[in-house]
Amino acid sequence: MTKTLVPLFLLLSQFLTGVHSTAQPTLKSAYKDYFPVGVAVAPRNLTGPEAELIVQQFNSVTPENAMKMGPIHPEENRYYWQDADAIVDFAQKNGLKVRGHTLCWHSQTPRWFFTDANGQQVSREVLLARLRQHITDVVTRYKGKIYAWDVVNEAVPDGGESIYRNSKFYEIIGEDYIEKAFEYAHAADPAAKLFYNDYNTENKVKRDKIFQIVKKLKEKGVPIHGVGLQGHWALDEPSEQELEESIRKFADLGLDVQITELDVSVYPKEHEARPKKPTDDGVLTEEMIRKQTAQYKMIFDTFRKHKGAITGVTFWNVSDKATWLDNFPVRGRKDYPLLFDQNYQPKPAFWQVVKF
Ligand code: GLA
Repeated sequence: MTKTLVPLFLLLSQFLTGVHSTAQPTLKSAYKDYFPVGVAVAPRNLTGPEAELIVQQFNSVTPENAMKMGPIHPEENRYYWQDADAIVDFAQKNGLKVRGHTLCWHSQTPRWFFTDANGQQVSREVLLARLRQHITDVVTRYKGKIYAWDVVNEAVPDGGESIYRNSKFYEIIGEDYIEKAFEYAHAADPAAKLFYNDYNTENKVKRDKIFQIVKKLKEKGVPIHGVGLQGHWALDEPSEQELEESIRKFADLGLDVQITELDVSVYPKEHEARPKKPTDDGVLTEEMIRKQTAQYKMIFDTFRKHKGAITGVTFWNVSDKATWLDNFPVRGRKDYPLLFDQNYQPKPAFWQVVKF
């Protein structure tokens, strides 16, 4: 009797005095029963305080640039593997998952891809052969180490009637470049989960266009497993209804949904780049912090509500120290879109996200 009572008493008193645990929740501990929480990284993030923060908080990484077509395949017969290898090695050493990003995208694509030795545009056959070679080489190199790939990125335009962006891939190959890319990736690593990835996916018109494309791919038996909602959001968008509609619509097709590039700008959303104005002073105000905290709360409340449908959430950059939004849509205007501040400390939004 006393044998069991003593430890119980001890436990209780420790609990009441708060001695039992000084451990604070982390992103990965808070969401362990929901989905992996990832972060986009560059090789410079893999040492020092950022590396510590990555290992402490996250259980997945995405190379921010290192696996894009331009950086990894700068010339026809030359790959540059060093940065991508470093990220995959870091992940393996620290037990992190890796999302690959991205196998086919109209942007950051090297010019040689579309032209022959005389500078002429290549034929459909040549471009398909190059796409196949590229995807096969990259996916094979990391086979078994990358659990999910963004296969095609941003194939849908924001405006206009067409559901396909008029990219070089579309112009030269036709709409079936998308299914080919998925087939090549699946052949190279049949175990990898394959995603279509895009931004502005909460806009009704764009969401419906993407829906048409992925539905058609599913019906044709193309090996697509999920849709990536990039999640480059802001204080004023998306609304809860818009976000829920996107998650439901794609999940109802039997596809995994991942948030692949999450950040919440402290400025109202602007979709086009524009010059800096004198009022763009980059000062973080109390009001911005309050609104950002509320927006992050809404977003993660919604993610948890759709447990099961959402199979991953990845932040786009580690902390407010450096984010691509410092230069977009306004070059040189500081933004503060992440959960950790410029000194890597958790922000009010972080606590809203982990305490529920
Ligand atoms: C898009 C791409 C990402 C990245 C961001 C900006 O969302 O998918 O790879 O380039 O733009 O950083």
